[in-house]
Amino acid sequence: MTTSSTGAPQRKLGSLLVTGGAGFIGSSFIRYLFRQPDFGGRIVNYDLLTYAGNLDNVEGAVDAARYKFVRADICDFDTLLKTCEQENVDTIVHFAAESHVDRSILGPSAFVQTNVIGTFQVLEVVRKLPSIHLHHVSTDEVFGSLGPTGAFTESSPYQPNSPYSASKAASDHLVRAYAHTYGVSTTHSNCSNNYGPFQFPEKLIPLMVLNMLEGRPLPVYGDGMNVRDWLYVDDHAEAIWLVLRSGKTGESYNVGGRAELANLPLLERLIDIVASETGRDREDLRRLITFVKDRPGHDRRYAVDSSKIEAELGFRQRHNVDTGLRETVRWYIQNNAWIERVRSGAYREWLDANYAKR
Ligand code: NAD
Ligand code: TYD
Repeated sequence: MTTSSTGAPQRKLGSLLVTGGAGFIGSSFIRYLFRQPDFGGRIVNYDLLTYAGNLDNVEGAVDAARYKFVRADICDFDTLLKTCEQENVDTIVHFAAESHVDRSILGPSAFVQTNVIGTFQVLEVVRKLPSIHLHHVSTDEVFGSLGPTGAFTESSPYQPNSPYSASKAASDHLVRAYAHTYGVSTTHSNCSNNYGPFQFPEKLIPLMVLNMLEGRPLPVYGDGMNVRDWLYVDDHAEAIWLVLRSGKTGESYNVGGRAELANLPLLERLIDIVASETGRDREDLRRLITFVKDRPGHDRRYAVDSSKIEAELGFRQRHNVDTGLRETVRWYIQNNAWIERVRSGAYREWLDANYAKR
């Protein structure tokens, strides 16, 4: 280990296995690492390519001599073990998951399988190969729903409310238990809502932007006043890189955007940006807002206190929500080929079947 600018010891990161590296955040992390002059290691992108995985997300952004893609399931212990052995993996960064709350409400089984059993298999591999350090990527949703004030800290009680957040909470608990019981080397992070380019258009921001561009209804759940704390995805990648290099083994770090927004005011901002970027009439876009039946068990408010990662590891986000949202909208306007590719027939059928008008 060497020492960082904050005085914390730094891990050696020579051969990383990134699970879920073809997804939204995992691919941002891979693109981010290949932009870092102080990263000289290799990356194995281990991804099953479910509906949410897309290799276009890393196309042209990797150094081919230091990169390998393996299409496989995290639930497949043998393949995961063999890959780690063959590639001399020293670090696993675990992003792979089912990640969409609405899908978890309609079909929780895949969430338990991937997020709980899959993380269990990742931990079993690390138990067998204890020289590997595991960083587990998790969500603020494990802490449940906040009232009008306060923010989640690393010691907030776990109170997951959706099958998605319960499956992520279970995975966090397994990580903690393996570190405590077997002494495996772990860190984990709980982050707020991410946004940015390459996000699958089932999540709020890309869904709304694309629907605006196509003149389709903008489905707002309930009264539209549920609050989320938004972080630009590359800032999340940077936070994970900081924790990986210098985070204390066995610890968790909360990561937030200090950008709390209720859904309706966020939508108004997106409307303003789309109107100014495309010349469309703002009022025509506003007329697309459609209040629909609320999500069952819909968490009212999330907010994350990032003071630990800021104080201990010097984390500072580089994007504010105004510039980040504009960059994101521009990306969706300019990347039609990507959008067409990820929108399979299955996704379209699912959308139409599940966004019922109130
Ligand atoms: P995503 O749905 O965009 O990507 C998930 C990736 O995992 C896809 O590439 C998919 O193919 C892959 N995958 C799914 N099942 C797999 C399996 N069994 N084996 C191997 N690969 C598999 O998700 P995301 O938004 O990039 O989220 C990544 C991680 O970050 C998740 O663990 C999620 O819980 C967490 N997180 C997400 C957010 C957010 O706002 N999106 C916020 C905080 C934490
Ligand atoms: P989402 O992007 O699904 O993230 P999460 O549920 O993990 O926070 O949703 C963000 C917020 O937007 C959440 O309060 C639900 C709401 N929402 C809508 O109002 N309409 C939609 O079509 C979607 C997808 C989400």
